Amino acid sequence: ARVIFSGIQPTGVPHLGNYLGALRQWVTLQDAAAPDETLLYAIVDLHAITLKQDPAQLRQWRREMLASLLAVGLDPKRSIIFCQSDVPQHAELMWILSCNASMGYLSRMTQWKSKLSLPATASPLDLAPPRSPSAPSLPSLKLGLFSYPVLQAADILLYRTTHVPVGEDQSQHLEFAREVANSFNHIFSPTTPLLIPPETILSPAKRIMSLTKPTKKMSKSDPDIKSRILITDSKDVISKKLKSSLTDSLDGISYNHSTRPGVSNLIDIMYYLDESIASSPVQLCADFQNMSLKALKEKVAEAVDTQIRDVRERYESVMGGDAGALADVGDEGARKAEERAKETIGRVRKVLGFTWD
Ligand code: TYM
Repeated sequence: ARVIFSGIQPTGVPHLGNYLGALRQWVTLQDAAAPDETLLYAIVDLHAITLKQDPAQLRQWRREMLASLLAVGLDPKRSIIFCQSDVPQHAELMWILSCNASMGYLSRMTQWKSKLSLPATASPLDLAPPRSPSAPSLPSLKLGLFSYPVLQAADILLYRTTHVPVGEDQSQHLEFAREVANSFNHIFSPTTPLLIPPETILSPAKRIMSLTKPTKKMSKSDPDIKSRILITDSKDVISKKLKSSLTDSLDGISYNHSTRPGVSNLIDIMYYLDESIASSPVQLCADFQNMSLKALKEKVAEAVDTQIRDVRERYESVMGGDAGALADVGDEGARKAEERAKETIGRVRKVLGFTWD
């Protein structure tokens, strides 16, 4: 039977990219799941601390993320929803996998290179390649950021996951997880694969772009809050952010990500919010071709509000409710996750020789 796992960092309320690229898909998979399927969704706080976090802020963000996951429609009766740090086997498996993870492979990861401000073409094994003056200094670079993908691989492999629903920016990390699983099996469990190389499920809205810099992906870490719409934004905030989104000065509406990134992103957002309104983004564009950009932005704002209004209301009611009830959901999720994690870790320990018998 399928085991579905995915994760999200508790670094703020999710934005439309997280929602369309991942969370909505998580809910769809949950609602369509056969009784024998297992779904696990983790709030990955161990990943969040690869960059400096204020503890009080992180505590708040964990709560906000759990409330967000419930608000989008995840149901703790059907999905195991938990915080990664509450299940210690993630860190244990990560250590074990890291003893066999290739430094060369890790240094080629685009996320690592971009956090270092390395050019994409930098040679992977050059430990001191030419870097821009704004790049962090080598002593300030942390080991955890480098080994981030190993922890992500551990998250997935710990539950013998078969499918991982994510946005496109995670594809490379999943490729790495498959590689880690295969090489572990090859060494320690050659006859019956103990770890399972997972399949990626990419959502159709795999890459939603920033509203203010539409050639970059919409991101929680962009300091400009106008670059993203949060799933908790009010109608008024949604329409202000869309009004100030960057488009262009061409007439009419057309769909071309390289020549009209801003307009094409708005079309994508509108289309993927409700795929029943047209047969494709291109078709939607054709329906709108004579519309002004101002009118398009108003239409998109309306569509966003319609689609996320319920999420916003549920979020407010969960956050306004009993804090203890939220903690209970987290604890119960962690208990169920740990039960499964222990099974895999037990088998891993055995093949490594960590036993007395
Ligand atoms: P994170 O927290 O950055 O993002 C959570 C999910 O949202 C997707 N996403 C997007 N999709 C489309 N357009 C965008 N602009 C956009 N921005 C984010 C991401 O692809 C992701 O699916 N490393 C992961 C968390 C993680 C994980 C895992 C995921 C840790 N362990 C194991 C899967 C399996 C991350 O930082 O996601």
